[in-house]
Order: sequence, then structure tokens, then C-alpha cells
Amino acid sequence: MEKLFDTDKRVKLGVWGLGRGGNLANYVKIMNVDIVAGCDIHPHMRENFAKAVPEAFVTADEDEFLAQDFDAVLIATYFEDHAKHTIKALNAGKHVMCEVTAFYTPAEGVALVEAVEKSGKVYNLLENYPFTRQNMYIRKLYQEGFFGEFMYAEASYLHECRSLCYAYNVSGGLPVEPGWHVHSWRSYLNFHYYNTHSLGPLMNITGLRPVQVSALPCDVMLPGFLGKKKGGICPAMVKMSNGGLLRNLMGEGTGDRHRELCLWGTKASVENNDFAMHMRLGACGAGMRLKMAPKWENMSSVAEKTGHCGGDFWELYYFIREILTGEKSYWDIYNASDVTLAGIMAVRSQQKGGLLVDIPDFRIKEERDKYRNDHGTCIPDFHPEHIFPEDHDPAITGNFTKVMTRLYPLYSRSGLPMLHMALDGMKIYDEIADNNGRILVIAKVGQLIRELPEIADACRDAQKIADAYPESLPGKMLYGVLSTLDLDKIYDIEGTRKELYKWLENRKVEA
Ligand SMILES: NC(=O)c1ccc[n+]([C@@H]2O[C@H](COP(=O)([O-])OP(=O)(O)OC[C@H]3O[C@@H](n4cnc5c(N)ncnc54)[C@H](O)[C@@H]3O)[C@@H](O)[C@H]2O)c1
Repeated sequence: MEKLFDTDKRVKLGVWGLGRGGNLANYVKIMNVDIVAGCDIHPHMRENFAKAVPEAFVTADEDEFLAQDFDAVLIATYFEDHAKHTIKALNAGKHVMCEVTAFYTPAEGVALVEAVEKSGKVYNLLENYPFTRQNMYIRKLYQEGFFGEFMYAEASYLHECRSLCYAYNVSGGLPVEPGWHVHSWRSYLNFHYYNTHSLGPLMNITGLRPVQVSALPCDVMLPGFLGKKKGGICPAMVKMSNGGLLRNLMGEGTGDRHRELCLWGTKASVENNDFAMHMRLGACGAGMRLKMAPKWENMSSVAEKTGHCGGDFWELYYFIREILTGEKSYWDIYNASDVTLAGIMAVRSQQKGGLLVDIPDFRIKEERDKYRNDHGTCIPDFHPEHIFPEDHDPAITGNFTKVMTRLYPLYSRSGLPMLHMALDGMKIYDEIADNNGRILVIAKVGQLIRELPEIADACRDAQKIADAYPESLPGKMLYGVLSTLDLDKIYDIEGTRKELYKWLENRKVEA
């Protein structure tokens, strides 16, 4: 294996928050790093981590964790706690790499910037999307002047994670317990806050900072979410520091887009998405269009094996490199503040019907002073532990998160997503372009025949909870979900299965 650093010095690391944090810990093992401690309040996460890193000290107590002897901490706790936990870790004398985003309110941001400055420790935001092969290549060309000046970009991070309101992101999708609670930030966070995977790459490629944002509210949401602040589809127009514009699109809809970036410069443009990358050359509208297959310049053999198309490798590598060699990483506290504030200010713009809002620069003390006591207006529209009336019957409500994870299982492989794929796939079957598509639909119809009784059961259980608490947030949400379904067809298991078999008999896929 390639030697990653020109030194034998090693970094002792603690991991705080063992879901995403536990996954990332697997990758640092190849980088002059010894993982010595882990901390999580959830027993299942601690057990998983102890199996993966048996030599590490594991605890649920954050003070006991921070008292251990290690140099740096990886923070991947709840979204709203990042600033609080980062400041606590800096005060305990640790370098910090923290998951997105850096802070939740402007006042926390001011406190965080000043804590990092005072500590003299390395701080990096773990924003990984700039470090895919494609984005690193676009950055290299941009920095060489290939694209000319930045004019406009469209970037998207659409990720429908409905199931994560009700389950933890672990294999099998562990439902939140007790069943009448829902997951904290995942169930109510307005998606504008989670803007870094789409704005982050553009900032890193161009070196520009976001200066203003406007976000019109979209009032239509997918069924299956509690509350209204989650935001559904969240587009924002962001003005960058050179006067160019970005349409930044986040949210939860039908049709995920994880890595979309189309960038127009004054000399060339590029279209990159989850499937392919094309360049337009000629410094004109009708330029030559070329399909691209970019490569990393180095360390591709290790990067390729990590998550998020290698981005997980590079974000960790740059942090460890900064500790070991002093070479600066892009995601210092100032760039981290820029990207985080763009999200916070987009929420404000959305609350004001799309008004243009300035994004302050926390490098400047006078700017920070204006936001020192700004604790924001980001109050969730419900408490995740109080979604049913106070006198609810746990025998009924305790089934709520289990029901939701049966209706919307992790990764959409069964439940209602599968039902829609099968029934809607049948409707458009004759116009599907190729056999691969037709085979996918046939497989889904076969799965629906097998799993229809389970879907019917889950719908009945959902109906029971809704009927018991019709005026509650979950009751209204469940009625909304059930109203989108043809329940007669779902409950008539034998009749529907007969129809599905008959449809299958009439399909012949050409070889
Ligand atoms: N960059 C990426 O691609 C990416 C992907 C997934 C998640 N994330 C980020 O990582 C963070 C964690 O996400 P997740 O997917 O693991 O979901 P999560 O929010 O459920 O995980 C948080 C974990 O921290 C634990 N925790 C919370 N408070 C704690 C405390 N005070 N002490 C100890 N443990 C505590 C929880 O039990 C849980 O296991 C989130 O902020 C999210 O934004 C980033």
C-alpha cells in the first residue's frame, strides 16, 4: 500500500457519535491513526463500535470520553449539537474534525470561531462532496483558468431520507425507541440547513464565498413527514463573491440527486451528475460536448475504497495531514462558517417569503459582533419526544416508529416505495426503452406478490394508530399517507395477487 504521509508520527483519535462516526472510523485505520476511544449514548452503536475496534475504550459518558488520552476527536453527534461538542472538545485540548454543519445558530458560530482561534488546535469541517474524483478534477481545471470566470452553477443534493425520521441509519434500520419518539434533527430539520454537499463543492472549486441568499418557500411536501419545517424541496439562489450565481437545490422529493453540479464559466462549462460528466468547450453556446472520465492524481487506490465516491477518504486525510505536517486544509473554521451560514440565512429567507438575506463573513470581528447574540429562529415545530397527546396509550403508540419503518423501510427496497414502483412500472411498461428496465419492473411485481400481506398489515396498523389519535401530528400524517393508497386493492390480497399474476403471464421480455 502507498505510504500516505512522509512521517511515522501517529495521531490518537477518539470518535464521538458512533453512527456515521463509526463508519468513518473504519477509513482512518489506514492513515497513521490509532483509534483509542469511542462515545455514544446509544447501546447498539457502542456495541457495533466495540466489535469493530476492540482495543478502544468505549463509553456513553462524554466527560469520561474526553478525559481519555488522545490528540484528536471526530464529532458525528446530532446535527444541532456540533458547535457545543466542538467547543467542549477544543477546551479539552483536542484537535477537532466535525461532521456537517459547523453550527446551528449564528451566536454559536461566533462562539465556535473564537474558540477555534483561541485554542490553536486544528479544526476541519467534514464536508466530503468536494473530494469526489469529478469535483477534484473540475477544481484543478478551474484553478488553472480552464473555465474562465465563474458565471452560474446548478448544484443539487436531493436525498429522500424519510425512513431516518423513524429509524437509525444502521443495517436493518433500527426503529427509534420508544416507538412514540421520533429521531431528533432528522424528523424536523429544514433541509436548507443541510446545504454543504451542493454548495461546498462549488466553494472549493472556485475559491469563492457565498455572500447573499434568497429562498422561495415550496409549500408541497411528500407524505410521511411530520410537521412542516422539514421543508420538502428547498431551492436557494446564492450570490457568490464574484457576482456569479448558484441555484442550490436541497431536499426530499421523488428522484434523488446526490452529486449534481453544472457549472458555466466564461470559457467552458461542465455538467456532472450521478451518472456521467460532460464538458462543453469553445467559449460559446454550441461548443463541442465531450464525455469525461477523470482520474485522481494520486492515492486513487485507497480513495476509491471509501464511501461517498472517495470523498470520505480525502476529508479525513486532509485533517490528519494538517495535524501531522501543518499543511492547511480547505475546510478551516472560516470556510466552514461561510457554508453553514449560507444554510442558516436561506432558512431565514424562506421564512420571509424569499427575501434576499446577507451572509456574514465571520473572519471579521465587527461582523461577528452583529451576530454574537443571534440565537436564531430555528425552533422545531414539534418536540420529537412529544408527538402524541400526553395521556397516550403506549400499547398503541409504541408501535408507531415500527409501523413507519415498515411503510418506508431504509433504502426504499420494500414497503410503499416498492408498491409504487411495481404498480406505476406496470402502467408505463410498454414504453420502457430497454429490457433492463422491463426486467426491473417484472422483479418488482414479483416482490409485490410476495410482500402484499406485509404491506396490508402495515397499513392496518397505521390505520389503528391514526384512528386512536386522529388529531395528533402522527394521526394526521398517517391519514395523509393512507389517502394516497388504493386500500381496497391492498387489502384484497388474493384478488390483487391474481391480477398481478395475470399481468406477469402476458409479459414476455425479448432476449
Ligand atoms: N458527510 C456525510 O456524507 C454525512 C453522512 C451522514 C451523516 N452525516 C452527519 O453526521 C452526523 C451524524 O449522523 P448519523 O447518520 O450518524 O445520524 P445520527 O444523528 O442518528 O447520529 C448521531 C449519533 O450520535 C449519538 N449521540 C448523540 N448525542 C450524543 C452525545 N451527547 N454523546 C454521545 N453520543 C451522542 C447518537 O446516539 C447517534 O448514534 C450528522 O450531523 C450528519 O449531518 C454526514
